[in-house]
Amino acid sequence: MATHHEFGGQHTELKLSVVEGYLKAYAQALRPKFRSLWYVDAFAGTGSRTTRTTIGPTLLSPREITLIDTRRGSARIAIDVKPNFDLLVFIEKNPAFVSELNALAARHAQRSIVVAQDDTNAALKSLVSNNTWDDKRAVVFLDPYGMEVEWSTLEALASTKAIDVWFLFPLSGLFRQATRKLTDIDQHKRAALTRMFGCADWEEELYPDGELDLFGNTGERRRELDPQGLERYVKGRLEKIFARVLKPLALPIDSKPQRFSLFLCIANDSPEAIGLATRIGNHLLDRKRHLIVGSAI
Ligand SMILES: C[S@@+](CC[C@H](N)C(=O)[O-])C[C@H]1O[C@@H](n2cnc3c(N)ncnc32)[C@H](O)[C@@H]1O
Repeated sequence: MATHHEFGGQHTELKLSVVEGYLKAYAQALRPKFRSLWYVDAFAGTGSRTTRTTIGPTLLSPREITLIDTRRGSARIAIDVKPNFDLLVFIEKNPAFVSELNALAARHAQRSIVVAQDDTNAALKSLVSNNTWDDKRAVVFLDPYGMEVEWSTLEALASTKAIDVWFLFPLSGLFRQATRKLTDIDQHKRAALTRMFGCADWEEELYPDGELDLFGNTGERRRELDPQGLERYVKGRLEKIFARVLKPLALPIDSKPQRFSLFLCIANDSPEAIGLATRIGNHLLDRKRHLIVGSAI
């Protein structure tokens, strides 16, 4: 029996349509120049996603109706991109989802598709270290549920100077871990933040010393940054390792609080590569930023 992967909402449609637009433009632009174009779906899911929409009750129909719809997930979207990617790598840790991905690969047996049942961080680091990168270009899509992506994985991707990374950054996860008061950060949160940012500098940077009171005592250390401030902080951190990081798309676009920031991080530092990725990426991100609420897709 097929395993259904039910997730998402409007922000899922938006993120997938941005990534699809990028993959199409990227493959067209780079196909003539590179013999090896790869797409790596690092949190691949099943290849499909099931959505559920409840309508009603209305005057015409007194009962609620639930519509169930199956749409393409990122892995299927990447398979459909023309011109084709030369290699598609799908990484997923859930065994039931991996079976679906294997069935998807079997339906496209003429294509080069590798399905890896693995932890994303381990798989990406070995993908980077076991390949040469001056002869190929790749797009990696990081689409986690939460704070699964480790800084060391981002550093490995950036070190290739050949990979463009679309990263759906879990801003709400960061907001939850980085509590207002430094004293509320327990060991678990501390470890998660350090894994996410690669070192403990976040503690000084996000929690400056409090002001001195009349008696010379230092006040409580608090995070003053709001979600937008945290997003700027994350962008600044990413810019330390990537050649260029575009202004992210805040998601969802029609409601608060912001839950995600969709970043494009460009590893290649050549002006030509940065120029191309920036033009395509900003065009797609700006189009979504300017959508009128209600016609968001
Ligand atoms: C938001 S879903 C990805 C959806 C997918 N991009 C799509 O469009 O269909 C996140 C996926 O990551 C997988 N996952 C979570 N943590 C992981 C990890 N550490 N390594 C590999 N896969 C992981 C989950 O099982 C889930 O399928």
